[in-house]
Amino acid sequence: MKIKFRVPATTANLGPGFDVFGAALTLYNEFSAEFVPNAKKTKFILSGHGKESIPKGKDNLLWKAMSETFNLLGETKYNLKNLNIEISTKIPLNGGLGSSATAIVGGISLANKLCKNKLNKSQIAELAIKIEGHPDNVVPAIFGGLCACAKNKEALRTTTINLPLPKLKVILCVPSFEIRTNHSRQIIPKNIPLQDVVFNISRVALLTAAFCSNDYSLLKEAMQDKIHQPYRGKMIPAMNKVLEKALNSGAYGGFLSGSGSTLAAFCSKENSENVKKNMLECWKTENVIAKGFILDFDKAGATRI
Ligand code: HSE
Repeated sequence: MKIKFRVPATTANLGPGFDVFGAALTLYNEFSAEFVPNAKKTKFILSGHGKESIPKGKDNLLWKAMSETFNLLGETKYNLKNLNIEISTKIPLNGGLGSSATAIVGGISLANKLCKNKLNKSQIAELAIKIEGHPDNVVPAIFGGLCACAKNKEALRTTTINLPLPKLKVILCVPSFEIRTNHSRQIIPKNIPLQDVVFNISRVALLTAAFCSNDYSLLKEAMQDKIHQPYRGKMIPAMNKVLEKALNSGAYGGFLSGSGSTLAAFCSKENSENVKKNMLECWKTENVIAKGFILDFDKAGATRI
């Protein structure tokens, strides 16, 4: 029997909430696995965005997550030879939209189902965070919605909470160039000046208040950041110009999605087409071709389909 899951894209950080805030969006990758007892060779079937660059063997991230799950659960029946794996991607790769997180969450979900659902959602989240390293993409990919995540002091456990879902559209402008998360993390200084930390703490407080009170007029100020965007922005031509354009076109707030290169904005349904068009045009004046999406927040997270 073929088991199939769909896992949502995510946008992380939301400006000041570096490694803390993440939201699931209505754009999905799909993953399936089928146990074929006497097969001699795994069949990897890939379709969709970036399929040429997705490894087909033991280096495949979906497989790595499946394999970690089997190890954790002491399951030895399944291996790379007796599983047919299908991956269908709609989420741009390396764009800061959690495509790696979808593979990790998809792999754990598939393996867990093959092992008769021994892990509950919180255990799936702990394993996914362990594999991914930071929680803000994987947690919303599992639970859906808009999540705040806090690792404990030893980084062994993560407390997560779902905030009320904003009644907003999410605009994504995904440029044709990609940024690797590893590189994008390395360029952030290890030590951040105290006044910049205070700046971000105050914005995270405002952002939480904005979501809890549905007061979106706070978002422009609340989505400012001094911890990662100023450093990552050096790799993204016209980042500030495009975000400024989004605000001038009626968006409530704009930010770098995850580690980039996608730029994102929150706005009303009425303003969404205009904000998208103007952000894309602004990037075009900088000779960058970008693809635009108008999405909603996904409520369900990883789902068996
Ligand atoms: N919080 C992470 C970062 C998200 O900004 O590096 C990317 O996975």
